[in-house]
Amino acid sequence: MGRIVLLGANGQLGNDLAQVGTNYNFDLACLTHADIEIADPASVEQVLSGLEPEVILNTVACHGASQHTPAEQEAFFRVNGLGAWHLARFCQRHGCLLVHFSTDYVFGMERTRSRPYAEEDPPCPVNIYGASKLAGEQLVRAFCSKHYVIRIASAYGSAGCRAKGKSNFVKMVLSKAQNDETLKVVNDQFMSPTWTHVAAEKTYELIDSGAPFGLYHMAGRGQCTWYEFAREIVRLARLPTRVEPTATPVEGPDAAFLRPRWTAIENYMLRQAGLSDLPDWRECLEEYIETHEQSGVTKDAVPSPSVPR
Ligand SMILES: NC(=O)c1ccc[n+]([C@@H]2O[C@H](COP(=O)([O-])OP(=O)(O)OC[C@H]3O[C@@H](n4cnc5c(N)ncnc54)[C@H](OP(=O)(O)O)[C@@H]3O)[C@@H](O)[C@H]2O)c1
Repeated sequence: MGRIVLLGANGQLGNDLAQVGTNYNFDLACLTHADIEIADPASVEQVLSGLEPEVILNTVACHGASQHTPAEQEAFFRVNGLGAWHLARFCQRHGCLLVHFSTDYVFGMERTRSRPYAEEDPPCPVNIYGASKLAGEQLVRAFCSKHYVIRIASAYGSAGCRAKGKSNFVKMVLSKAQNDETLKVVNDQFMSPTWTHVAAEKTYELIDSGAPFGLYHMAGRGQCTWYEFAREIVRLARLPTRVEPTATPVEGPDAAFLRPRWTAIENYMLRQAGLSDLPDWRECLEEYIETHEQSGVTKDAVPSPSVPR
């Protein structure tokens, strides 16, 4: 494989792609926001043409906060939509492969869904972030013939998400569980938690496999609610904290950003391409907590009988 340029290299997924790519001794150029502005076509052309990439990995996203001003909502489209388009056109002109990351939040409109979404299911975002990521996907697919659009979901990794203050749901639960006796977590939103390290390894495997270009889901196998996810985090970290189910708020500040009820996805196209599926989300979480999150947690703590399983 020729030179790989990684965008968003200090982000959560970017950090794992950088680490895994370095382990494989790839010719990897890691760029951060300080190096390139993907919403600016001149910056894209100037920075990338000097690097002569064969592959571009785009982990860049404008996301994170739960309430958005109209200006912030425009920024979603500038970065997630137009930014992706600038990269797509660059790759098409220069014959590069564009690996563009997207999200399960392109789904969610179906009110009674209870089956994981596959790649062929029509997208149906319920919020502005999902709509802007869908725009990016479509622009990549329309303007760049050599592409992999990869949807991950409910991501967690050791670096934490930049847009969430270098945190993620696992870190947030572990941190709160150190101080609070009880955590209340929503039990009416279903998703497929994804460890970014596993997604990073699978991404390089996909590129290397020569699988047909197109759209691929890449999420931890299975699904759960955020409550079930939190309960498993607390159990695996052997913390005595109680986790209680609650419902998505319908009023107050947290209600302003519409959250989809069901965005679980399955990795159908990966399997079709002859690649192995990602492990079950519980297996990934167990390894992640064991290897990355035990420092602040007492490993020898005796599990309390009150910890819900
Ligand atoms: N986090 C999740 O739960 C989740 C779930 C599903 C899908 N995804 C998708 O997975 C991908 C990676 O997410 P992540 O969690 O790794 O996000 P992240 O930690 O916030 O990383 C995003 C990176 O993009 C950079 N960036 C932002 N705007 C930029 C711009 N205009 N030009 C250049 N760089 C820019 C950020 O740099 P600065 O911070 O310095 O601006 C940061 O390094 C994204 O496509 C996201 O939509 C994430």
